[in-house]
Amino acid sequence: MTADVNTAGGTPPTSGKVTFVGAGPGAADLLTLRGARVIGAADIVIWASSLVHPDVVAHARPGAEVVDSAALPLEGVVELYRRATADDLSVARVHSGDPALWGAVAEQLEVCAALGLATEIVPGVSSFTAAAAVVQRELTIPEVAQSVILTRLGGGKTPMPPGEEVREFARHGTTMALFLSAARSGQLAAELAEGGYPPETPCVIAYRVTWPDELVVRCSLAELEATVKAHKLWKHTLVLVGPALAAGGTRSHLYHPGHFHGFRRAERGARTQLRSAGASGP
Ligand SMILES: C[S@@+](CC[C@H](N)C(=O)[O-])C[C@H]1O[C@@H](n2cnc3c(N)ncnc32)[C@H](O)[C@@H]1O
Repeated sequence: MTADVNTAGGTPPTSGKVTFVGAGPGAADLLTLRGARVIGAADIVIWASSLVHPDVVAHARPGAEVVDSAALPLEGVVELYRRATADDLSVARVHSGDPALWGAVAEQLEVCAALGLATEIVPGVSSFTAAAAVVQRELTIPEVAQSVILTRLGGGKTPMPPGEEVREFARHGTTMALFLSAARSGQLAAELAEGGYPPETPCVIAYRVTWPDELVVRCSLAELEATVKAHKLWKHTLVLVGPALAAGGTRSHLYHPGHFHGFRRAERGARTQLRSAGASGP
């Protein structure tokens, strides 16, 4: 924990609540209904103007305290949490995308626990699924890619744990979503290639996806560095890579007439065909 939370002097009081709300990738109508309700009921709404669309905080009720965290360190936010504890206030802490990914939520949950503040998390639409939606691609394609690796390049502000190099993940050859990495596009392209993706592997570069100034470009891995640099993209950018971004022609067994489940019977001929193809799952 990086913030100083002094709970000496007895059991911390248990009042107030902090709800971490995923704001989605940008467009305000990608906020969940639950997220909007929580923001609308909160006494204090904390949001980062650099990452969250202002229309998301427009759900705040008249009289709510709306605080821009863009210029605040964790300690500044902790002061608001202390007040929420003392005065039994509800706080909506709005994070971009989904709070489960690079949201610095873990350290805030620890602070809240130490203060005796109740917490809840409302998920949001992450930028990687928003980028997939914009290019209308499924990230998991039968027999091509059945896994999605969410990661970032090492060498940024926060060190990477050992064994989590992009080069190593790339060896799987499946779909990868690379956050927080566009500023080092040369290193990114090099590690993806070293890991074994062929130069023609399709990539999607998504800048501020679902914002009014969104820019989404498709290219091959061989063109990735030059394309990122040509558009001067170094932040608010996500890169998707992998053969699933261009693959087609296969079908999911889940919707095959030979597959049965609790709500649908299999067609006998199709079932035999599916079995002889060696299928066991979806
Ligand atoms: C601190 S992380 C937060 C990720 C967020 N929790 C999510 O689920 O998308 C910020 C990084 O997420 C990606 N990102 C977030 N919003 C984005 C958007 N609208 N368009 C493109 N990339 C985005 C970028 O890689 C950016 O550097």
